[in-house]
Amino acid sequence: MASIIDRGHAILDGMGSTPLAFAHHGPSGDVPLVLLHGFPLDSRMWHEVVGQLSDIPVITIDGPGFGSSPDGSTVAAGLGWGEPSLDMYADALAQSLLAGGISRAVVAGLSMGGYVALALADRHRDLLAGIGLLDTKAAADPAPARQQRLAAAAQAEQHGAQAVAGMRNTLISPSTASQQPDVVAQLDHWLAQAPAAGIAWAQRAMAARPDRHAVLAQLTIPGLVLRGAEDDLSPPQENSDMARSLGSGARRVTVPAAGHMTAIEQPGAVASALADLHQRAQVT
Ligand code: MLT
Repeated sequence: MASIIDRGHAILDGMGSTPLAFAHHGPSGDVPLVLLHGFPLDSRMWHEVVGQLSDIPVITIDGPGFGSSPDGSTVAAGLGWGEPSLDMYADALAQSLLAGGISRAVVAGLSMGGYVALALADRHRDLLAGIGLLDTKAAADPAPARQQRLAAAAQAEQHGAQAVAGMRNTLISPSTASQQPDVVAQLDHWLAQAPAAGIAWAQRAMAARPDRHAVLAQLTIPGLVLRGAEDDLSPPQENSDMARSLGSGARRVTVPAAGHMTAIEQPGAVASALADLHQRAQVT
């Protein structure tokens, strides 16, 4: 990774009237690839991947409370929602895409982004031409994990980005930690900038998400189920269950020398898998 990317350098052209900020990259096209970031990062995490997809129309999105998007309660108020919810994020995403003239897209998300892609599949299936599920899961959280998220949300409101400062070593693999000092520095920089309101809103929204395996089973579109070989947060069993639910349209990819943050640890491998998904979605 060449340098630290600051928020001011993000190529953002989110249209003022849409609920979420988004940026176009590459050529224009009828069925773009939409990339949804993981927690507690923003669309900058896709920078290296996008750089390797220059032939494909790509849109990166900032989730509620992250990057250049308004905070979760502002987005929710605009859409008439109350409690934090990834369903609201999916509705805001659908509305943003439609306002940008996009009625069909290949949507791929990493971890929290994958939860949102699944919520979109549940609520706005007609928008989806293909789905990419990276280092994520379709299962809901068990009760203790939900409680931990609610505690983490309160902690973020009290201590800000400090609440996520310790996440680095759970997000990247030991090989990235020892062999890619630029990636480590970049991730630390982003974690230090994570916005308190965004962290709290997202933790509460993720705690409330339902199991979406049944949604996957109803999809008949091309899919990608990708996981870093050293990702301790996305169990291999969950990965194979998601691929099985997706059926014959699913392609599984395991990325060597990567943990949970495959897109910043091994952007070349992730870009190839996404390009393949986009290509498969164009021909169906
Ligand atoms: C992420 O990377 O988005 C997080 O691991 C999601 C989560 O906390 O489940």
